[in-house]
Amino acid sequence: MHLTSNKLPSVEALTSLFGCPHCKGASLHWSFPVSVRSLPDDGSATCSGCKRSYSLQNGILDFLAGTQQLEVITPFQRLMQFPPVIAIYEKYWRPLGFFVASSSSFRQFSTHLIKRVDPQKRRTILDLACGPGVFACPMAAQTSGWVIGFDLSLPMLQQARKKADLNKLRNILFVRGSALSLPFRNDALDAVLCTGALHLFDRPEAGLAEIARTLSREGHLVCQTTLKPRHWAGLVSFLERVIRFGFFASIEDLNEKLRLAGIQVERQWSRRIIHAFQARRL
Ligand SMILES: C[S@@+](CC[C@H](N)C(=O)[O-])C[C@H]1O[C@@H](n2cnc3c(N)ncnc32)[C@H](O)[C@@H]1O
Ligand SMILES: [Zn+2]
Repeated sequence: MHLTSNKLPSVEALTSLFGCPHCKGASLHWSFPVSVRSLPDDGSATCSGCKRSYSLQNGILDFLAGTQQLEVITPFQRLMQFPPVIAIYEKYWRPLGFFVASSSSFRQFSTHLIKRVDPQKRRTILDLACGPGVFACPMAAQTSGWVIGFDLSLPMLQQARKKADLNKLRNILFVRGSALSLPFRNDALDAVLCTGALHLFDRPEAGLAEIARTLSREGHLVCQTTLKPRHWAGLVSFLERVIRFGFFASIEDLNEKLRLAGIQVERQWSRRIIHAFQARRL
């Protein structure tokens, strides 16, 4: 997974994607010249509208530090910030959870999903709720554009940063923020991948509206989420009410929410309660 420096996309192409998540769209002023050849590890971006300043530290741009929490953080989202979970997430938690939910291999599924994103053809890919970089890093190795790994959890992003550094990936930026208020301009992104997360957002509809706002007209959304199991009512109710691990009631329910957000499904696949789809803006 090595990208040579002469293939690095321009820093300006990356910084121009961002807009303030608070005053939607207002541009950001960067603490370094955007004409630099490679993205610095440290710096800041300041909003030209509300003057809020967002820090870039150790390769992670943080839109949440020091800001008032605008959404409910659910118990499952808290679990995703717990170091022992992060330590076992990529090797054990994700493949095992996926196998239990779908009776199929996570490795094969993730290769297939990355093909659907088609990284070689994209200049800007957002991995929304990227966790420890399970998809973001292989996608960065396959594109000469930018990958943005975005998540609510700082410890997840720190793990993802380590993985990217280990693989000498320089065309990837990690960003901490909320999926319900994305720090990107309208129409900025070529592709959005969102795996294992849409059902965890406190308000999935708000997340879908943000995807529709920031995805370009030609862009694609590739997504994997979960459908409500027909059995184990007790366990499902525990997961939904206590841990706040969500499910979409059915494919129809999900597709209606997508339609209301202005997103049209082009292809879809299901294995037991795992559901994946490729879509674009209406
Ligand atoms: C189960 S992990 C999925 C990680 C990775 N996409 C994968 O497929 O393995 C869910 C991730 O969603 C993130 N997440 C949950 N709610 C979020 C939100 N509102 N905004 C951004 N990230 C969120 C969590 O922090 C966690 O890293
Ligand atoms: Zn602002």
